[in-house]
Amino acid sequence: MSSPQAFDVIILGAGAAGLFAAIAAGQRGRRVLVLDHADEAGKKILISGGGRCNFTNLHCAADRFLSANPHFARSALARYTQHDFVALVRRHGIAFHEKTLGQLFCDGSARQIVAMLLAEARAAEVDLRLSHRVTDVSRAGRFRVETDRGGFEAPSLVLATGGLSIPKLGATGLAHDIARRFGLPLVAPRPGLVPLTFAGEALELMRPLSGVALDCIARSGRAAFREAMLFTHRGLSGPAILQASSYWREGEAVTLDLLPGQDAAALLRAAKRARPRAEPRTVLGSLLPQRLAEALAARHLPGPRMADLPDRALDALAARLRDWELRPGGTEGYAKAEVTLGGVDTAALSSRDCQAREVPGLFVVGEAVDVTGWLGGYNFQWAWSSGWIAGQAA
Ligand code: FDA
Repeated sequence: MSSPQAFDVIILGAGAAGLFAAIAAGQRGRRVLVLDHADEAGKKILISGGGRCNFTNLHCAADRFLSANPHFARSALARYTQHDFVALVRRHGIAFHEKTLGQLFCDGSARQIVAMLLAEARAAEVDLRLSHRVTDVSRAGRFRVETDRGGFEAPSLVLATGGLSIPKLGATGLAHDIARRFGLPLVAPRPGLVPLTFAGEALELMRPLSGVALDCIARSGRAAFREAMLFTHRGLSGPAILQASSYWREGEAVTLDLLPGQDAAALLRAAKRARPRAEPRTVLGSLLPQRLAEALAARHLPGPRMADLPDRALDALAARLRDWELRPGGTEGYAKAEVTLGGVDTAALSSRDCQAREVPGLFVVGEAVDVTGWLGGYNFQWAWSSGWIAGQAA
């Protein structure tokens, strides 16, 4: 067996967190090797944000992340902030805009973000090797990584292979497996930012409405999100639902307010007085998308005209519109999940540099860690921030 090539830092994963850790370590003069099994770096960045990459969020703060330790992300997010990343994007002349809720997107293409990262990595003399299959990782003083194209060793190893979401794009549980092998505990992974699926009566209502979108408040547990929701042929999706899905646990309900900020009972009663001859579906259609209005009127407002409906029928529908309790059967799983919740337990890592407390030289960053952001650029900011702090210490 040929002797392994020696580096100061080996990083597994050329995604957002791995590339950023590599850049930070390379800028400190460390000899950095990045290994990835994919044939292209940053594949998730390329498809993110509908191809425009929602690369950070102006309102980034630790309370927009889910983790068994809600304080863990604070140090990383403070040491490398959204403003630091925005400054980098500006230095590279990449035009961007705020779409909504502090979400920053490229005007052009996500490819510009990957090109920026690769240019920074080249300038920091990072050795990036794609299409390398990792076959073994061990440690005898230094870390040793075997691949189908040779062995490598270094005193520092950064696990940056992400979570389990979108296996089609090459996602694997490698970081989780290696962390476990070195004795680091895991918080059970599950899909996050994922469409919810339904069965029975609920699905019978939802399926024909596939494609209908509206503003709503989606609640799951104590979390509430006011954004758009979308009916799908399997249930519900759209930003509000994706956000709520990260807080949802099997067996629990989600509740929807389909007329946020409006008093539906008062509106329906007023319409009955003002337009007694109007059809219920027409009145509902002035408040909700027409196809949804028709489906709800057919089920809940029996009667050809508003005048035929007792107030209690209007009040009952209004209550449902404000507090529609639904029990998802499940989610669309890792195939459709934007992120993986859970991962390497933060209790085993230092929040200052994402280094394993009991395994000096081993770092875990990005989505592989039990830190998951809301929808809206938070997950990339965690990747940049956690990668950067690890790169300062590795
Ligand atoms: P990431 O998954 O980016 O990178 C992991 C790398 O490790 C990959 O290059 C992979 O090939 C490699 N790898 C995996 N297993 C390996 C193995 N066994 N051997 C070698 N290499 C291996 N977030 C956000 O903030 N804004 C957004 O707009 C979006 N949009 C979005 C859209 C879609 C469709 C998805 C699926 C996700 C998003 N996200 C997002 C989430 C975001 O993409 C995600 O949180 C980050 O990419 C995580 O960065 P990491 O570097 O941790 O993992």
